Amino acid sequence: MTQAFAPRPLAIAPSILASDFSRLGEEVRAVDAAGADWIHLDVMDGHFVPNISYGPDVIKAMRPHTKKIFDAHLMISPCDPYLEAFAKAGCDHITVHAEAGPHLHRSLQAIRALGKKAGVSLNPATPISALEYVLDLVDLVLVMSVNPGFGGQAFIASAIGKIRDIRAMTAGRPIDIEVDGGVGPDVAGALAAAGANAFVAGTSVFKGGTQDAYKANIAAIRNAALGARGEAI
Ligand code: DX5
Ligand code: ZN
Repeated sequence: MTQAFAPRPLAIAPSILASDFSRLGEEVRAVDAAGADWIHLDVMDGHFVPNISYGPDVIKAMRPHTKKIFDAHLMISPCDPYLEAFAKAGCDHITVHAEAGPHLHRSLQAIRALGKKAGVSLNPATPISALEYVLDLVDLVLVMSVNPGFGGQAFIASAIGKIRDIRAMTAGRPIDIEVDGGVGPDVAGALAAAGANAFVAGTSVFKGGTQDAYKANIAAIRNAALGARGEAI
């Protein structure tokens, strides 16, 4: 397809939330070997979202198992008191929710000051205008295509138009557009065509439970996205 400007590199980011938590190190190594570009880490506090997952100590324990980018998605409020701990645990991207507090700009400044890439996530109901005055501090926008808190939910199609609008808003800036929730090969093409370049996938990557299955699952998402971008498979 024709695009107004060169797309950013494609990244497939398996969400560890869907892995076997009793074998975290092994699961991280398996998705690394299976072709993951980033490792997506969903942090939930039982307050900002109605579920609790894991925190910086567990991330630190996963860190030695791969050299791939650790893409942390903080679904916590407040987030500022914990940013340093996530940076020290080895996160490379730290993404906070625009809805998580009154000081998004301050949180992004703090992430950049820690030497990490700063991300903003938007819930399905949040308008993209939330990004307007912080764009200079943003390395990544994470568009939620489910309501955050749980894996295995159905994809919300309004994310596609939202991504198209964010791509227009961020044109010419070095900002990754990542999509998270219900993503699989069935929707990856439409999302890539709209402008997403990073694809979080939990259920659709970890189904099958073996490294060979993960490899085929990651390849299916990548090929769907590459096809939509008009890039060779
Ligand atoms: C939801 C998380 C997602 C989740 C995606 O709050 O942010 O990263 O793990 O899982 P799937 O791919 O199963 O929808
Ligand atoms: Zn996530």
